[in-house]
Amino acid sequence: MSFVIAENVSRTYSDRDSQNEVPVLHNVNVGIAEGEFVCLMGPSGSGKSTLLTILGAMNHPSQGRLLIDGIDVYALSDERRADFRAQYLGFVFQQHHLLPFLSAVENVMLPLATLPLKASEKRRKALDVMEKVGLGGKAPRLPSQLSGGEQGRLAIARAIVNDPPLLLADEPTGTLDTRTGDEIMKVFLDLNGRGQTIFMVTHNPANAALAHRVLHIQDGRLDGEAGDCGGTARIGTNGTQAALPQPQIAQPLCHPEHNHTDTVIRECRSLDAELQ
Ligand SMILES: Nc1ncnc2c1ncn2[C@@H]1O[C@H](COP(=O)(O)OP(=O)(O)OP(=O)(O)O)[C@@H](O)[C@H]1O
Ligand SMILES: [Mg+2]
Repeated sequence: MSFVIAENVSRTYSDRDSQNEVPVLHNVNVGIAEGEFVCLMGPSGSGKSTLLTILGAMNHPSQGRLLIDGIDVYALSDERRADFRAQYLGFVFQQHHLLPFLSAVENVMLPLATLPLKASEKRRKALDVMEKVGLGGKAPRLPSQLSGGEQGRLAIARAIVNDPPLLLADEPTGTLDTRTGDEIMKVFLDLNGRGQTIFMVTHNPANAALAHRVLHIQDGRLDGEAGDCGGTARIGTNGTQAALPQPQIAQPLCHPEHNHTDTVIRECRSLDAELQ
């Protein structure tokens, strides 16, 4: 069975003016195997980000369900789903959403804020992952003191510092020049080579061609659909929950309202004080 299965997923958004429900995704079926690198392409407005955020456990489908590692993600409570996201998923967005007032290493430490690790261990983990994406030696810099490509790599480092089983990326090279975009793609390919499962939205056919598989979406419909998930998905024909593994999630890591940023800043500052 695929590691990720989106099963007959539809999404409508309500139009504020007309109060009508506007369909954006129609019965989408996607399967992603562990270790696979899948790209999603399609025109602007075709539903790529909508599908990505649904796979990212942060956009409830109107119909259908999402199974990741056998877990029925949208059947979880909001709090459990937040914990699931923290444990299973890493995100890289086009606008990297780096915090400008935190150093590079502090930005990477953010997802570790609530883990029961010493601040020094969190820093070590963050430095290791920065090394992995070619940012060794850049730890004290502010994001504004990094190049566009380095900022992209920093966003990737932050996304993978928790070792998420699934890495989701929404046009991570969209705003970058070709050379910098290539640099970022190399990082994704390197991570995939080490076993990282990746689902990436891209407008760039050359980048998509480097993936194991390319999905095409048009007006909210995946090409070659009607139950065909492009090869790797194995959805049971009767679609019953009984055939699926029982959800297993570790105890909640944190309360969703926990302020990660404050914790990281406090920990970094106290660690700095310790080291002086
Ligand atoms: N929260 C929302 N409320 C209402 N409509 C939305 C919402 N989010 C997206 N849409 C609409 O859904 C459609 C698909 O949007 P989506 O962002 O998924 O497209 P996309 O393929 O990612 O486009 P792009 O390539 O421009 O990023 C668009 O028509 C968009 O206006
Ligand atoms: Mg988009």
